[in-house]
Amino acid sequence: MKALRNRKVVVVGGASGIGRAVVDAASEAGADIVISSRNTERLAAVAGSVPRVRSVALDMTDAWSVEAWAAQIDEIDHLVITASSAVHGPFAELKTDSLQTMFDAKFFGPYRTAQAVLDKFREGGSITFFSGVLSRRPGRNCSGLGAVNGAVESLTRGLALELGPGLRVNCVSPGMIRSEAYQGLEQETRETMYRETGQSLPLKRVGTVEEAAGAALYLMGNSFTTGMVLDVDGGHMIRQYAVA
Ligand SMILES: NC(=O)c1ccc[n+]([C@@H]2O[C@H](COP(=O)([O-])OP(=O)(O)OC[C@H]3O[C@@H](n4cnc5c(N)ncnc54)[C@H](OP(=O)(O)O)[C@@H]3O)[C@@H](O)[C@H]2O)c1
Repeated sequence: MKALRNRKVVVVGGASGIGRAVVDAASEAGADIVISSRNTERLAAVAGSVPRVRSVALDMTDAWSVEAWAAQIDEIDHLVITASSAVHGPFAELKTDSLQTMFDAKFFGPYRTAQAVLDKFREGGSITFFSGVLSRRPGRNCSGLGAVNGAVESLTRGLALELGPGLRVNCVSPGMIRSEAYQGLEQETRETMYRETGQSLPLKRVGTVEEAAGAALYLMGNSFTTGMVLDVDGGHMIRQYAVA
């Protein structure tokens, strides 16, 4: 990954899950990295253990926090935003308040965060957003989450058109990845979910954070890729329907 040597990479969500794996890989590739999210203890732990990483706290849902954060960022080559939150539930029951909170974290948060640092990108820079397979392969009780993923993908294509040629804009769409996102589930429930989801995929397993992070590294490094939604999903998009 020569393309990242001495580049300035900002990873929002870099203290856990896929974001943390992006940080490890970018650090190995020689980038200077800023990690941002809300939990300052977790940020400090990563900044203290990975070379060339500093942390700046950020709550993407708070406009004041975003402004204060942007003031502490100088130049950027690549902005990667993995941070998000998710809500599930049947359409008949899921209230719009919950959906609005999710859209604030997963759509408006990345929107205002990228907008706040737009004038700090160096020529040839990139933005990488994160969506998820539910945008195009829906799951039961996940219609709202699918919708916000679709919005992120649509934003990606629109911004790629608008911000080129100086800035590329892409999106990683993960399938199910073992990450801290599921740490709230009881272990047996979580392992059953991983196993059963994995069995439904051509690759017969769920993914790792390193595999998802690899897609973000590709999108940062490839200077002829923009407006792309890159699926890293073990073949989720081509899952076989049950046959009678
Ligand atoms: N894991 C999967 O199976 C999967 C599947 C499909 C799509 N995805 C997508 O892939 C991306 C990364 O997922 P992941 O598994 O790495 O998630 P994760 O481990 O739960 O990490 C999410 C990160 O977001 C940060 N965050 C949440 N709200 C924030 C806010 N308002 N402002 C700033 N930071 C905030 C959290 O840190 P703090 O709590 O410290 O703020 C955390 O570091 C997400 O967009 C997710 O929707 C994941």
